[in-house]
Amino acid sequence: PELHKIISSKDFEDVAEKTLTPKGWAFYSSAATDLVTLGNNASFYRRIMLRPRVMRDVRKADLTCSILGCHSSAPFFVSPAAMARLAHKDGEVALARGCASEGIIQCISSNAAFPLQSIVEGGVTNQSFFFQLYVNAEREKTTQLLQKARDLGVRAIFVTVDAHVPGKREADERLAADNTMASAISGAKASNDKKGGGMGRLMGQYLDQTLSWHDIPWLKEASRLPIVIKGIQCAADAKKAMEYDCQGILVSNHGGRSLDTAPPSILTLLELHAICPEVFDRMEVLVDGGLTRGSDMLKALALGAKAVGVGRPFLYSLTYGQEGVEHLSQIFKDELETSMRLCGIPDLTQVSPAMVNTRDVDHL
Ligand code: FNR
Repeated sequence: PELHKIISSKDFEDVAEKTLTPKGWAFYSSAATDLVTLGNNASFYRRIMLRPRVMRDVRKADLTCSILGCHSSAPFFVSPAAMARLAHKDGEVALARGCASEGIIQCISSNAAFPLQSIVEGGVTNQSFFFQLYVNAEREKTTQLLQKARDLGVRAIFVTVDAHVPGKREADERLAADNTMASAISGAKASNDKKGGGMGRLMGQYLDQTLSWHDIPWLKEASRLPIVIKGIQCAADAKKAMEYDCQGILVSNHGGRSLDTAPPSILTLLELHAICPEVFDRMEVLVDGGLTRGSDMLKALALGAKAVGVGRPFLYSLTYGQEGVEHLSQIFKDELETSMRLCGIPDLTQVSPAMVNTRDVDHL
């Protein structure tokens, strides 16, 4: 359909299912084994109720905020995803342009199809970028990459820690890998093996499985940038990130793609509230996984997230190129603004846990 007929994130998903190559669809939409975490990421947002307050002046709702010191027109950003070229020939560059015109931030994947420089220079000047890091078992390569990211003006490093062992994504394994594809950043390629053609698994073979908390000082020194740990899944590890003086955490389970039956990320956010509320003051807490509506975003913000990441929906919107990305961003802004105004919230400084009723999931 024409772009103006698309009115929700789900509409983009439906188009992507029909228009992507079977392999592209399998790689993007798949998740680990029985898809339990994938489903729960989304469905748990529906088990949390909003608590609207009425009779407040809400002619407008101001969505602007700052994420890790970077201005953003809205409290959401594009979560890093490998191989955006499977959705559109201009891949991550088109994504960058869409984000630039919308004033939102893109976190670039270590396994992006395009070189870091083309992506960073593909948008407009003064655009902020985050870079997602997969630490290479050959550490020297990582040191060089961090140096490059810094030189190119990247504003923060998101170190992914939940995919050092590849998740078993069966839909992706069943179809042959596209071995003409490679990441221009990490050099990772996919070539089929006995287990199948899983792109995520095959492209993740360079990851350092020995990475530990003791490596944080090295990452800080090599990048001299704010460090965010991506893939925090419990309160104990959120505390660890705080103890190691990280600037932020991204509560995430890799969109259900790594360990199936890991908790949905919104539940982990609630766990942080219950067990280590101090982390919200000491670090920027971000969350991704399963957000498809502005109301989902508002719930995560109410529960202390500074901003939320969106993965698959932006990949699906990219089937329409830059304009699709802009259109999805506008849909999200519109839905979030509507939810805020109906809840009596004029700007993001006013969100608080009192806005949500979490009773249905509090016993978990
Ligand atoms: C991802 N994700 C991911 N994360 C990361 O740190 N590095 C990466 O290269 C990728 N690649 C990737 C590819 C694809 C196709 C998907 C769908 C996801 C995970 C991503 O950053 C994010 O955590 C999830 O996508 C969030 O869940 P939703 O929004 O897709 O439900």
